[in-house]
Amino acid sequence: MCGIIGYCGINNAEDIIISGLHALEYRGYDSAGMTVFTQNGLKTIKTKGRVADLENKAKIMFLEPSGCGIGHTRWATHGKPSETNAHPHGTESVMIVHNGIIENYNEIKKFLSERGYGFLSETDTEVAAKLLDYEYKNEKDKIKAIINTVNQLKGSYAFGIVFKDEPGTVYGVKKDSPLLAGLSGQGNFIASDISAFLKYTGDYIRPEDGEIIRLTSDSVSVYGPEGSPVEKKAEKALWNSAAAEKSGFRHFMLKEIFEEPKVLNDTFDSITKDSYPDFSETIPDDSFFEGIGTIHIIACGTAMHAGLIGKHYIEKLARIPVNVEIASEFRYKDPILSKNDMVIVISQSGETADSLAALRLVNKMNIKTLSVVNTYGSTIARESSHVIYTKAGPEIAVASTKAFSVQAVVMLILALKLSEIQGRLTKEEILKISSSFKNMTKTSLHNVLCNTQNIERAAATTAKHQDVFFIGRGYDNYLGMEASLKLKEISYIHSEAYAAGELKHGTISLIEENTPVIAIATNKDFYEKMRSNIEEVRSRGAYVISICTENADIIKNVSDAVMTIPDDDEFSKPFTAAAVIQLFAYYGALALGRDIDKPRNLAKSVTVE
Ligand code: G6P
Repeated sequence: MCGIIGYCGINNAEDIIISGLHALEYRGYDSAGMTVFTQNGLKTIKTKGRVADLENKAKIMFLEPSGCGIGHTRWATHGKPSETNAHPHGTESVMIVHNGIIENYNEIKKFLSERGYGFLSETDTEVAAKLLDYEYKNEKDKIKAIINTVNQLKGSYAFGIVFKDEPGTVYGVKKDSPLLAGLSGQGNFIASDISAFLKYTGDYIRPEDGEIIRLTSDSVSVYGPEGSPVEKKAEKALWNSAAAEKSGFRHFMLKEIFEEPKVLNDTFDSITKDSYPDFSETIPDDSFFEGIGTIHIIACGTAMHAGLIGKHYIEKLARIPVNVEIASEFRYKDPILSKNDMVIVISQSGETADSLAALRLVNKMNIKTLSVVNTYGSTIARESSHVIYTKAGPEIAVASTKAFSVQAVVMLILALKLSEIQGRLTKEEILKISSSFKNMTKTSLHNVLCNTQNIERAAATTAKHQDVFFIGRGYDNYLGMEASLKLKEISYIHSEAYAAGELKHGTISLIEENTPVIAIATNKDFYEKMRSNIEEVRSRGAYVISICTENADIIKNVSDAVMTIPDDDEFSKPFTAAAVIQLFAYYGALALGRDIDKPRNLAKSVTVE
């Protein structure tokens, strides 16, 4: 979702801004723009469409190199994607880029209109820019003008700001939207995330809400919400820029699926000692896991599906009841929580607006919180009582794959830890499950990744259809939900996931001759039930493609096609099955020629509610 980059330094700002915007493309956007300082003042270009279009435009329109400017990728909220609505917005004297939503922009617009301001776009951002212009004209002091402006705004924002009368300087300020300042010997940056400047530097400062950053080519100053200077400690990025490159793969999504054996192992190793659960790196005291009543897992999208896999593991192994909640529902439903409950927030980015708001709500209730987050130091990680970091490295494709798998392994090891605390499993039983997980990552998962012919064939067959159904039971049902989401996200094929036993209560009416039904049947406990469900849909004409183990003849015999996984133990199978459903979506989208890494309308990091 919207990406911001700002740069001041000795290199060509246009090139650096364009390269930063390319790196931010994965967040999702529909238009782009930039403003740079030139010898004749501020110059702005914008485009509806891709950063590559902006780059071409810049080559024609920016004849002189600049050392300083701001750039933006916009994911439309107020006003359709268009050149006029694209950022930067502003006036003769000030231009801004913005990520977030200004909720009270109508009131402010009215206030400014009465004072002679006109508006060209439909955006809330233009209103904020003109309010800053108004405040600057009154105050004549930039820091004070920024403070006065943000004090009047309701909502969320990260702003990058340039003032015409201060060439070579960029300002930034944030509230509830991500913004970092990058520090290098060749110039300094602001950006929505580290990937925008990782090529140049891994050193950065993380401002708090309300703090104002002032960048020049050789300095980064930070001011508190009242305007007084603040000392900040620089941090170092844990990822290098190579981790955010395609490394010969056709798409980031494919590369990220192929990284799963490694990142699953890295994550497993970081939360186990000799294959035994060990969270002491971030949770030193085991009392955190004791006396839990109910666990509430809160997340959005794919992370929510990882939460469902977690529900399966925790309920099965530790016998603690688990509710899985969509963050945007949870935060507004006046949730009922007891003081000995635990809330787990799962988030790849650690910045998802609804998940963060749900966490803040729970924090006010004095309930213990744990976050499972991939992005080091992100807001959700910092605001929860404890954090477990997943080790997926940067995930660039909008469709989440490796992040899902590492979230699920954290859930498995957490379930094993809780089962120990609850006295449900012996040390030997715990080691048996974790060792077979480890073996699965070494052999079975590689087998799945290296033998994709059946998956490619099944995906190409499915891609010819408009509607697809996924059925499964237990954790296979949860995997079906993720499989359906993945397929929709990147192939734009309509699909639905159903608990296999529930299909006949309505949706079976949609099954016609040749309708593809993907039956996920990896759990031995449900083979016979799944066989009956497969026969129910086949007898109505469905073309059934099953995901099952190589030796599951009971399922294979009633299927039209199969995508198989090795016969690991029940707790490891979700990981190989996850790779199959991800590859299935990938090859389906490939067959249709979709823009796999940047699907339409979607954003990677959803920082507005
Ligand atoms: C967006 C992304 C999904 C992701 C969801 C939650 O919708 O496109 O891939 O699962 O947000 O994101 P989070 O960063 O909180 O895991």
